[in-house]
Amino acid sequence: MKESATLAVAARAAALKKQGVDVVAFGTGEPDFDTPANIKAAAERALQAGQTKYVATPGTAEARAAIAAKLSRENRIACAPEDISITAGAKHAIYLVLQTMVEPGDEVVLPTPAWVSYRPLIELAGGRCIEVPGALANGFKVTPAQLAAAITPRTVAVLLNSPSNPCGMAYTPDELRALCDVVAAHPHVGVISDEIYEKLTYPEQCPGLAPWSPGSYAPLAGRVVTVNGMSKAFAMTGWRIGYVAAPGAGAFIPELIKLQAQMTNNIPAFFMPAIVEALSDRSAPEVERMRKAFAARAAIVNELLPAIPRFANVRSTGAFYAFPSVAACKGLRSPGGRAITDGQSYAEALLAEAHVAVVPGGDFGDCAADHVRITFACDEATLRKGIARIAEFTGSLR
Ligand SMILES: Cc1ncc(COP(=O)(O)O)c(C=O)c1O
Repeated sequence: MKESATLAVAARAAALKKQGVDVVAFGTGEPDFDTPANIKAAAERALQAGQTKYVATPGTAEARAAIAAKLSRENRIACAPEDISITAGAKHAIYLVLQTMVEPGDEVVLPTPAWVSYRPLIELAGGRCIEVPGALANGFKVTPAQLAAAITPRTVAVLLNSPSNPCGMAYTPDELRALCDVVAAHPHVGVISDEIYEKLTYPEQCPGLAPWSPGSYAPLAGRVVTVNGMSKAFAMTGWRIGYVAAPGAGAFIPELIKLQAQMTNNIPAFFMPAIVEALSDRSAPEVERMRKAFAARAAIVNELLPAIPRFANVRSTGAFYAFPSVAACKGLRSPGGRAITDGQSYAEALLAEAHVAVVPGGDFGDCAADHVRITFACDEATLRKGIARIAEFTGSLR
């Protein structure tokens, strides 16, 4: 298997840092905030109270009930605790979903540019990844006509991710509904909806932007698998807590739990009360404080990136990413003599000569080779410093 492109960049940037180089790291996709104190305290209390034993594979009744209540309340996904399994991160949830759903030769339709792990996870399950490229000119959004053209008798699912990694955009509810209507017309196809960035949208940058979950859409009842987790909205990447919900999908969740039971069993038992705490009203102010900080950074990115010569990009309205095209740099050379032929060579030259780590676009989809991903999960001063270096470097290409 291929190494994860994002982790490879992080490793190279870390190696430079170790040599004493002042690297601005726009590589990895995780919040720079610490986990809110009340969530940590809930895990500490549970640990001290001796919640250190195995629990049921999909999680405790209380944690599953808290997730079911959240999905019903916030996402309008009518859901019972039995429809849910708690996993070791959203990545593990997606792995389990694909292993449970996909038979060899089945096709999973993937709007791209898309998160680097989807294709390997689809292929690991024996499936074929059918990419549907979202055009830069259309804000990276795929159209219902494009989606309809990609569906075949072998399609088992369409994998949606809004807000998107790496595009930094979110579909509007109307746009998502139109894509779901295409799926609804094909009864053999389901939707896998990865909503890990649902709480990180910036109506400040796009008035009227609102969350909407395919799992709430009646025409798709029983055909939507929703994936979410704690990593991004609650600044809990290192805890490894995700979950999957598939109400009305018959044996799907019980079969998924059988696989999970042979792999990992439950995630740490003393995290269960932390999940309940994270999803309580007590965490909401802190989650909103972090969202506001990301919104302010999105405003900086949206102000500064369009001014960079030879960059073409879409406004960031969700998650914490910008995904500019550097196609206009192709054929040029860096001051250090490096030839720019695509996003990969641009990113390598940028790191070596301007000491800014960004992720080359190629692993995000066949259409994305001329892009780079910039993560704005850092303080505003670092963000401005890194973007100034990118602007100077890009302007210096000849
Ligand atoms: C779109 C998307 N889905 C899922 C994940 C995985 O999240 P987790 O940390 O919960 O495994 C990520 C992490 O980068 C992501 O960007």
